[in-house]
Amino acid sequence: MILSIESSCDDSSIAITEIATKKVLYHKKISQEAQHSCYGGVVPELASRLHAVALPEILKETQPYFEKLKAIAVTNQPGLGVTLLEGIAMAKTLSTLLELPLIPVHHLKGHIYSLFIEKEATLPLLVLLISGGHTQVIRVESFEHMEILATSMDDSVGESFDKCAKMMGLGYPGGPLIEALALKGDENRFDLPVPLRNSPLIAFSLSGLKNAVRLHIEELGGSEGMSEQDRADLSASFQKAVKLHLLQKSKKIFAKEKIRDFAIVGGASANKYIRSAYQDLCDEFGKTMHVAPLEYCADNAAMIGRYALEAYKRNLFIDPNEID
Ligand code: KG4
Ligand code: ZN
Repeated sequence: MILSIESSCDDSSIAITEIATKKVLYHKKISQEAQHSCYGGVVPELASRLHAVALPEILKETQPYFEKLKAIAVTNQPGLGVTLLEGIAMAKTLSTLLELPLIPVHHLKGHIYSLFIEKEATLPLLVLLISGGHTQVIRVESFEHMEILATSMDDSVGESFDKCAKMMGLGYPGGPLIEALALKGDENRFDLPVPLRNSPLIAFSLSGLKNAVRLHIEELGGSEGMSEQDRADLSASFQKAVKLHLLQKSKKIFAKEKIRDFAIVGGASANKYIRSAYQDLCDEFGKTMHVAPLEYCADNAAMIGRYALEAYKRNLFIDPNEID
């Protein structure tokens, strides 16, 4: 079994994955969303202190598995430095005390492997990763060969949802709040710019759109001056512009890339409006679309464990003194 730890942002999570069967035998996540909500985003120092309390609490529950552990895995990059350190410190200690090899896991590769939890990996794949920190299209040929085809030049998709929600006084995380409000709104009320619409660049950009949302909020008298309907209409119009932007650039990539399988991963892949637009695009291009189960879209240790299974097979270990 492998014990995996995730603490790259505001979720403290530990999983136990059985190597032979790929089964997730234990998985727990303590989310800090409620504690960060009043700040409209994650406060790194607070997040770090909350991990320091939550991770040992979860770890205690995994003690019955300790005897059967073959390796410890931990997210070591990318993420918030002070929160990554909490997971890394725990992983180093476990690896040293239990004399087990240590597996460093790249968080974004973990998101990709969320698709294969309790399953065989089916590659090659074209992946759209939309999370709080990243927006990328990646060609995943194999475990060893992944290539970024497009990336955001500024904010990520999740971040733009979070920032727009904050400006409208909605709370954190903004993604689910905006998606829910948008269901009650008119997506054609506000004329928002579709980013890079006339640019040949195959890249993403969300900061200009965020700024356009800010200007509309100001015109409406700030978040306090907005009615519930204003918020719903602006949420729907914003979400539509994000969708059109993602689709326009993805279409260009789809036209070039022959890989038949396509997947959306990351926290924002939980968005049903975006999922359904991509389902239509996949139908148009004859591609098969994949998504991870909803519980594994956002940050979690099970996806870190799934990636670690592959790393374990390949002996990709690191000296506990060298991980940072
Ligand atoms: O992957 P994740 O849990 O953490 C990072 O690796 O960043 O993604 C979190 C992000 C947040 O920005 C959150 O607002 C966004 O995912 N998110 C959504 C939805 N659910 C979560 N964005 C849009 N629509 C959603 N339904
Ligand atoms: Zn993530």
